[in-house]
Amino acid sequence: MTAPRLAIHDHMVELADTTRCRLLAALERQELTVGELASALQLPQSTVSRHLRILADQAWISSRAEGASRWYRRHPLLDTDMLGLWELVRSAMATSPGVLQDAARIDAVVAARRTGTQAFFATASAAWDALRTEMFGARADLAAALALLDPALVVGDLGCGTGVLSAALAPHVAQVHAVDASSAMLAAASGRLAAFGNVTVTEGALEALPLPDASLDVAVLMLVLHHVADPVRALREVHRVLRPAGRLLVTDMRPHTHERYRETMGHVWLGFAPEALGTWLREAGFEGMHYVPLPVDPAATGPALFSCTATMVPMPALVVA
Ligand SMILES: C[S@@+](CC[C@H](N)C(=O)[O-])C[C@H]1O[C@@H](n2cnc3c(N)ncnc32)[C@H](O)[C@@H]1O
Repeated sequence: MTAPRLAIHDHMVELADTTRCRLLAALERQELTVGELASALQLPQSTVSRHLRILADQAWISSRAEGASRWYRRHPLLDTDMLGLWELVRSAMATSPGVLQDAARIDAVVAARRTGTQAFFATASAAWDALRTEMFGARADLAAALALLDPALVVGDLGCGTGVLSAALAPHVAQVHAVDASSAMLAAASGRLAAFGNVTVTEGALEALPLPDASLDVAVLMLVLHHVADPVRALREVHRVLRPAGRLLVTDMRPHTHERYRETMGHVWLGFAPEALGTWLREAGFEGMHYVPLPVDPAATGPALFSCTATMVPMPALVVA
C-alpha cells in the first residue's frame, strides 16, 4: 500500500518546470504583463500564457485587469508549504546565469515603461497647462488640495450664496453649516447641496447666526463681508459660534475703485486693506491675522482678491461687580 500524497507533492510538480520557476522569480521581482514577461524571458507569448495558467490555477500568482492589459505578480499570500518550497527553489536558482539575465531584462522592460513618459514630457511643457485643463478641468489641483483638510472639522460657510464652496468642502470635512440671508440664494444652495449627507442649509444673517455658541472649528466668509454694514458686529457674532482657537477665513476683494458695484450689486465696501481688517478682527476677538493677496486669474474681470486667516481667542469673562 502506498502512502497518501501530501499537498506539497502537487506543488513540487508545479515547480518542477524551469520556465515556471523563472516566471515566478520574475513576478516576485515585478508586476508584469504577458507581453513584458515574454520579452524579458525571451519566450513566445503562448508559452508564457500556458505556464501562467498553471501557476494561476494553483494560486502561485495573482492578476488584475487594467484596461486591455492584465498584470501578474507572485501571489502575496502563499501558504506555508508553498512558501517554504518556493524559498528552497529560489535560493537554489538565485545565482544561475539565466535568472540573473532575466532580472536584468526585467529591469530594462520597466525602464522602457518610463521612456514613453519621458518622451512625452520632453516636448509637452508648452502645451501641458492647456492639456491638463482640457483633461481634468481648471480647478483639479485646488479640489485635490482640499483633501489636506482635517476630516473631523465642522465648518460654517457663512454667506454661502448658492453653495459652491460648501459643495467643495463637504466631501473632506465632518460637517458643513451653510448659512445665508437670501432665500433665493439658499434655494439654489439647497439644490446643489442636497446630495451631501453632512451639510445643513439654513437662512440667517451674519449678525445673528442660527448656530449655537462654540459650534464651529472653522468659519468661512467668502465674498460676503463687503455686503455687511457693520463688519465688527458680524465678526463678533462669528467669534461667538467658533470654538476657542477656531479658525476664520475671510476671502474678499482688495481695495478697488469700482464704485458702480454699490448700485449694481449692493456692495457696501470697496474692498478691504489689511490694516482696516486687522483692526476689526482684533476688536472682534481674533488674533494672528495672515492676509495674503491671491494670484490674479487672467480670465477674471473683477478686482483682485485676498485671503485672510485669523484665530479665535476667547474673550475674558465679564466680571459683574
Ligand atoms: C457675493 S455672494 C457670495 C456667495 C458665496 N459665498 C460665494 O462665494 O459664491 C454674497 C452672499 O452673501 C449673502 N449675504 C449678504 N449679506 C449677508 C448677511 N448680512 N448675512 C448673511 N448673508 C449675507 C448674500 O445673500 C449672498 O448670497
